[in-house]
Amino acid sequence: MRKELRKPFIAANYKMNLTRGETAALIKAIRPGCAFVACEVALAVPAINAETALKALKGSEIQLALQNVHFAEKGAYTGEISVAMAKDSEATYIILGHSERREMFGDTDEVVAKKLRAVLDGGLKVVLCVGESLSQREEGKTLEHIFAQLKSALSGVTAKEMERVVIAYEPIWAIGTGKTASPEQAGEVCGFIRGVISGFYGDILAEGTRILYGGSMNGQNAQELLSQYDIDGGLIGSASLKPEEFLKIVKAVG
Ligand code: PGA
Repeated sequence: MRKELRKPFIAANYKMNLTRGETAALIKAIRPGCAFVACEVALAVPAINAETALKALKGSEIQLALQNVHFAEKGAYTGEISVAMAKDSEATYIILGHSERREMFGDTDEVVAKKLRAVLDGGLKVVLCVGESLSQREEGKTLEHIFAQLKSALSGVTAKEMERVVIAYEPIWAIGTGKTASPEQAGEVCGFIRGVISGFYGDILAEGTRILYGGSMNGQNAQELLSQYDIDGGLIGSASLKPEEFLKIVKAVG
């Protein structure tokens, strides 16, 4: 499969930024610009804004996504939401393994793998994030680290289930910092990720898997990043909060 045959994917990660009113207003502003575009678009909102987002998205092609779930089916997990609740909110994608969750909320490789299993068992799709810290990059351990993250998360995931997995390469040093990985740096790691997937599942599946870049992607740098062979889209934080910036990225897909 050639790059052109992988449907590009642009996902917004609103993180913990918007009230319900702000969510509705932002969706209203971007919705027309996301119609009839070449890429799939998803918006990851905090669970409490899911219903508002769903209403604002009604009738559009834009998918609803959530930023996290718990792996347990149900029970005494104060503050958490289950896969069944995520499904009930009509989310289609769940972001898992985001570095902010790994660093601040105890989402170890083991927890990420359990969450991935729960989400796939529940029939939803996943944006699985991997990425290295600045010190890992400086020590030359980027690829080793990403390999370990992928191996842990994907062990036990079948080839059939991989159809519902999108990978996002997010170098931690580039997230929310304004420092973007150069297109070559990002392309190199995304190519490495495709190679790892090929090692696990074979070339055909790897060529069909979508790999996103995330980390200070914006209207200015999107086109160059997205033109890399192994980059099939973006996971957008800061720039997703500004309608015109986000739409520039969506348009950059072509
Ligand atoms: P950023 O965030 O675009 O603000 O760097 C990306 C992300 O964390 O998913």
